Amino acid sequence: MSASHTPAVDVLVVGDANPDLLLTGDTVPRFGQAEQLLDAAELVLGGSAAIVACGLARLGMRTALVSVVGRDGFGDVVLHRLEERGVDVSAIVERGDVPTGLSVVLAQPGDRAILTLPGTIPLLDAATVRAAVERLRPRHVHIASYFLQPSLAAELPSLLGWLGDRAVTTSLDTNWDPAERWDGLSEVLPSLTVFLPNDEEARAIAGSIADRPVDSLDDAGAILSALGCRVVVKAGAEGGIAYEDAARTAGAPGLVLDVVDTTGAGDSFDAGYLAAMLSGVGTEEGRLRWAATAGSLSVRGIGGTAEQATEAELSTALV
Ligand SMILES: Nc1ncnc2c1ncn2[C@@H]1O[C@H](COP(=O)(O)OP(=O)(O)OP(=O)(O)O)[C@@H](O)[C@H]1O
Ligand SMILES: [Mg+2]
Repeated sequence: MSASHTPAVDVLVVGDANPDLLLTGDTVPRFGQAEQLLDAAELVLGGSAAIVACGLARLGMRTALVSVVGRDGFGDVVLHRLEERGVDVSAIVERGDVPTGLSVVLAQPGDRAILTLPGTIPLLDAATVRAAVERLRPRHVHIASYFLQPSLAAELPSLLGWLGDRAVTTSLDTNWDPAERWDGLSEVLPSLTVFLPNDEEARAIAGSIADRPVDSLDDAGAILSALGCRVVVKAGAEGGIAYEDAARTAGAPGLVLDVVDTTGAGDSFDAGYLAAMLSGVGTEEGRLRWAATAGSLSVRGIGGTAEQATEAELSTALV
């Protein structure tokens, strides 16, 4: 392979990057100008794409992120946290006219409410992604948070075709649809290499495609994988389950450990799966074990990135 064809990065991650302000303690708001005192407040790196990118970098993958942030304090926080983790931020667009997205997370034991300002998050478009691909020449492109980025979502079928023509493999984690319509995926999945929903998202999207309620995960996996991509479903502490050509092919459990915070566990799972794929792990069960282990190790700390697995921690846990 000549130097000009050597990929500059292993993975280009596409999507949302924003700070999450995590509040714990007496977080159920009371109106009437009441003042409540909190136990803790932490500003952490959020956005599914940003967390996946940090997870991949920790696992030794050369990783870049393409995203849009505002030219403001929260945008600076995002760029700084990514750079600290060794993620290439050269393709991130800074906009002076729109604020960086922000989520305020009101945490209670076992549950949370999330208040999100979309800000720059919906602004990413396919032209920006194509330019980043041409410059960074990734082996793989991962797309996060489909439903938060309508412009990118509308252009995704043609973008995936363009990437396929260049022999770039692709993956998508839609995450939750705030509108709960779950539209558009029947045009996307046929051109995708790997689809990475969680179990609720898989059932909702399969229901939208089949135009009937889909209650069983195996039914959902069959409907989605019949469209032509590999489907890898996250199932919380149960781990991950894979489907191909309308049949279940493998499963791997998560680790049993003390859970501190599951925010972003799905993103660390995605990072583990993609790192396994790009490192040449040859069996679906092996790739799922990397994924479920990386997801589980991330729940040891607050926020999505603090306790993401290093390569060494992952190998130790996989023995
Ligand atoms: N309670 C838990 N104990 C152990 N491992 C867990 C737990 N919750 C999640 N995990 C690990 O993290 C992976 C992904 O978690 P989950 O299924 O919650 O993804 P998700 O719903 O996409 O998460 P999110 O979108 O909030 O990041 C699981 O497959 C598992 O490996
Ligand atoms: Mg998820």
